Amino acid sequence: KFFKLTKNLSLRFKTTMASINEAKQIAAYKAVDDHVKSGQVIGVGSGSTAVLAAQRLAERFKQEKLNIRCVPTSFQARQLIIHHKLPLTDLEIDPIVDITIDGADEVDANLTCIKGGGACLLQEKIVASNSKKLVIIADHTKDSEKLGEKWKKGVPIEVVPMAYVAIKNKIEKTLGGTAELRLAKMKAGPIVTDDGNFILDWKDFDPECNWEKVNNQLLQIPGLIETGLFVNMAVMAYFGMNDGSVKVRI
Ligand code: 5RP
Repeated sequence: KFFKLTKNLSLRFKTTMASINEAKQIAAYKAVDDHVKSGQVIGVGSGSTAVLAAQRLAERFKQEKLNIRCVPTSFQARQLIIHHKLPLTDLEIDPIVDITIDGADEVDANLTCIKGGGACLLQEKIVASNSKKLVIIADHTKDSEKLGEKWKKGVPIEVVPMAYVAIKNKIEKTLGGTAELRLAKMKAGPIVTDDGNFILDWKDFDPECNWEKVNNQLLQIPGLIETGLFVNMAVMAYFGMNDGSVKVRI
């Protein structure tokens, strides 16, 4: 009986995992197919959904002999571009990006996003802010009405290491909630970002707050480099749904 139960549970787990991955894939593939054209400079996002977009980009690059150049949004994205033998460029060579396709941890009804679950928010935001279009790709679990409804790990905030306690205290005092230093696996010290900084994850914030105002308030704190709040940046979000369809939010 016990064996049957665990087998059923693991089957159910596998089904759920497969459908989340499929949901990521259909969103990623459709966004690449709808938006990428020859002659463009493409911002390549970070995270597991962006991996699938890079895969589709590579397929189309080879099949259609697309003339594209790719700007990475992280070390991971750079590795993906190199792995797929896509043409690598950067903001120094191509300061204007035609379109960036990137994942998100949560997307609300106004296309405000939380990003940085993979600690790449700084370069992601720089590339997105130099892009004509930011298109978000995600599975349906990231689709929410209000930020914080789905993503429970907090808003990632990149900070200068020597200032992390001072910044944590300022955030908690002025905006409430708690800002926790993100630790590496097995708690083996803090996570260090691609740019050598630390991440604070700010949780238990007021879900009714004005995100533009909060983002601006956070950015006033000396030593706080960037936030994972992407306000008025994304023009479109593609959500892969459970039934195999893609929901587009504009
Ligand atoms: C990394 C990010 C990612 O895009 C975000 O965490 C989503 O990742 P995934 O597609 O793996 O769920 O912002 O900093």
